[in-house]
Amino acid sequence: MRLVFVGPPGAGKGTQAKIISATRGIPQISTGDMLRQAKAEGKLPADLVSTMASGALVPDEVVIGLIDARTQAPDCTNGFLLDGFPRTVPQAKALDAMLEGRAQHLDAVLALEVPRELLLERAVLRRADKRTGQIYHLKYSPPPPGAELEHRADDREEVVGRRIDTYEAMTAELLPYYEQRGMLRRVNGVGSVDEVSARVLGALSPID
Ligand code: AP5
Repeated sequence: MRLVFVGPPGAGKGTQAKIISATRGIPQISTGDMLRQAKAEGKLPADLVSTMASGALVPDEVVIGLIDARTQAPDCTNGFLLDGFPRTVPQAKALDAMLEGRAQHLDAVLALEVPRELLLERAVLRRADKRTGQIYHLKYSPPPPGAELEHRADDREEVVGRRIDTYEAMTAELLPYYEQRGMLRRVNGVGSVDEVSARVLGALSPID
């Protein structure tokens, strides 16, 4: 099964992608995580570090190259779940071309929908444990005592606002691209993690 998760910052893509990845046995591939990993290893060029910290998108060719290589790894033989890619129509077209060249196709594109006020709350109060990478939320899934918490540079309120604006501008074209191809499934992302998971699984059931 080859899936794409689309959704604004803080919508819960990563949270839901991990659940689907575990239940379907396919890897979750997050371009945001790959870029942050490259930054942590000192391999992300300084201009891209600044781009990410400002809330803007990195150039299409950077993420297309990452996805082209990653989706050919052996663990992708039975499929994969892309989290945060594609984000633009050129990225979507590049993905289509990549898959076509391998005689593969996408099964569905899930769009998580969450209102702006909730997105801000989810992103601004998100924290990760430096040692384990586990994601917490100071209100909805508080970290255990002793966790070594870090706050993403782009999760400050003003940057999250810019990321949401970027997402809205980008999806004005991306969602219709997939809708016209009959691939888009909109999922209400408001509610508990379990409630949203149940909706995501329901949206996937016709293609299981
Ligand atoms: P990326 O890392 O992809 O960030 P994003 O898309 O903005 O998404 P987030 O990681 O902020 O949110 P999420 O939807 O995964 O939410 P989560 O599940 O963590 O991208 C970062 C940057 O990298 C971009 O700005 C850009 O610069 C660059 N980039 C990446 N991909 C790119 C691309 N394709 N093209 C160009 N540039 C690219 O949940 C958030 C919080 O809410 C957590 O604390 C969680 O615990 C909590 N939560 C989740 N669900 C619920 C729920 N149902 N109820 C209560 N709390 C919940």
